[in-house]
Amino acid sequence: MKAAYITETGPAESIQFGDLDAPTVGDGQLLIRNHAVSVNPIDTYVRSGLVAFDLPSPFIPGSDAAGIVEAVGDGVDSFAVGDRVWCTNQGLLGRQGTFAQQIAIDAQWCFPLPEGIDFSTAAANALVGVTAHLGLFRCGALQPGETVCVIGGTGGVGAMVVQMAKAAGASVITTAGTDEKCQRATELGADHVVNYSTDSIAESVKRIAPEGVNLYWETRRMPNFDEAIDLLAPRGRMVVMAGRDSRPEFPVGPFYVKECSLHGFVMFKASPQEMRHCADDMNRWMSEGKLRANIAHQLPLSDAAEAHRIQEAENVGGKIVLTA
Ligand SMILES: NC(=O)c1ccc[n+]([C@@H]2O[C@H](COP(=O)([O-])OP(=O)(O)OC[C@H]3O[C@@H](n4cnc5c(N)ncnc54)[C@H](OP(=O)(O)O)[C@@H]3O)[C@@H](O)[C@H]2O)c1
Repeated sequence: MKAAYITETGPAESIQFGDLDAPTVGDGQLLIRNHAVSVNPIDTYVRSGLVAFDLPSPFIPGSDAAGIVEAVGDGVDSFAVGDRVWCTNQGLLGRQGTFAQQIAIDAQWCFPLPEGIDFSTAAANALVGVTAHLGLFRCGALQPGETVCVIGGTGGVGAMVVQMAKAAGASVITTAGTDEKCQRATELGADHVVNYSTDSIAESVKRIAPEGVNLYWETRRMPNFDEAIDLLAPRGRMVVMAGRDSRPEFPVGPFYVKECSLHGFVMFKASPQEMRHCADDMNRWMSEGKLRANIAHQLPLSDAAEAHRIQEAENVGGKIVLTA
């Protein structure tokens, strides 16, 4: 089978594309014929060695995929040959990744793909959707009628946060860096969009939500805690999930006097049960048209190195999907 792979960590150019032995299905696994995969920033950190896992060699990058089940391993009774499925949380913690024509995945990371949802949508929404769900509901305990502010509403994660918060009955304020991206954020359902290259986020959010926001989601790698905590309502929750090397200042006094809470997490540490809970809601929302993919680039799988280059070089403005 054809696959994108590395034999040692390094820059995007270290990704090769060629023939590897097809995987065989093990106990508790599904063998999936891939139709689409997507790129996430963490794929580039693992490929470069920035996030160090004990990798198999050759190592196939990629967390997300969607395709059709070709074989079912012993002990799996929830899937059958021919089922349409999507999966996430691969290529992490030393597991082999998804950028191949065929993948063998533990069934616990696989979810049914409802009829009418295309493979590219499922692959594009996989990791970022689970991330948004964990942050909004497990960490942030979002309630209908609350106000969410998410920085970066057209990014991979941000576009999911906007749509899921709306699906849950919240009011959503978000930011984007160009008029075009602001328009896109509005199309995704945001109630208010701040163009951060022309307007101050702090002043705009204060004007839109003078009582404060209930949940503030920071997707940037360097949170501004002074600004965020000032924008939170009493007992507001803040979510952080990026910036491993960030060491920003933290306004302890304003934070505890307002009785705020701060939540950090990585999606790949969620349990299979927690991910299934996220996937169930995602499947329902995708079927209802409430969770659409925000795809910026579609490329063939053979362009995996180029896809990593784009992810690292540009402010991508959505997901990069590769079709297998
Ligand atoms: N902890 C976890 O489980 C987890 C899961 C997924 C991702 N992550 C991390 O979360 C981060 C975001 O991931 P992603 O996939 O959403 O990335 P992405 O698609 O590249 O999105 C980044 C977003 O940040 C915005 N942004 C960049 N610079 C900004 C600035 N100066 N001011 C305001 N907004 C700015 C961009 O908006 P514009 O394009 O409008 O500039 C864009 O919307 C990455 O660091 C990733 O590694 C963590």
